[in-house]
Amino acid sequence: MPKKKTKVISIFNNKGGVGKTTITWNLGDALARQGKKVLLIDFDPQSNLSLAVLGEEKFLKLLPSKENPFRFTIRAYLQNFLQNVGEPKLYKHQGDETDVDLVASDAWLNVYSDSINVGSDLLSGTGIERFSVINRIIETANSQNENHFIGVAH
Ligand SMILES: Nc1ncnc2c1ncn2[C@@H]1O[C@H](COP(=O)(O)OP(=O)(O)O)[C@@H](O)[C@H]1O
Ligand SMILES: [Mg+2]
Repeated sequence: MPKKKTKVISIFNNKGGVGKTTITWNLGDALARQGKKVLLIDFDPQSNLSLAVLGEEKFLKLLPSKENPFRFTIRAYLQNFLQNVGEPKLYKHQGDETDVDLVASDAWLNVYSDSINVGSDLLSGTGIERFSVINRIIETANSQNENHFIGVAH
């Protein structure tokens, strides 16, 4: 059987506080309730979407610690990519009250943003590659299982 093509839905507006994350969350949840396989990627260091999907207790358990610096957030993917150390790892998590899968955010995304302009002699990937890493994450997610919809939040 041919593989169903994944749809990526982007909710875009340059302005903050206009409802991008809220729409991503509600749209993702509604599609999941209709039986679609939905993956939400939280690319916002404020982590509102991760908190909405997982709740505070579950989310806090995923965050990096001194002993285990990459842990199970989006950092496990981005830091391996950025420093070219091993395979970037994509961890998906589930909340108790919704059927969406989530790649959890990390406050470290602020550091990632700053790194976009650091020279490629120090870090792997050009500035542009680091900026478009979200496409790599989507490709990785697609190769792992069949997602019908992917939403990215900021
Ligand atoms: N349709 C809506 N009606 C009223 N308040 C909303 C609506 N959509 C979002 N909000 C509220 O507005 C604030 C900003 O929303 P958010 O989704 O975080 O925006 P963005 O992701 O664009 O920064 C939040 O407090 C959210 O609860
Ligand atoms: Mg937002």
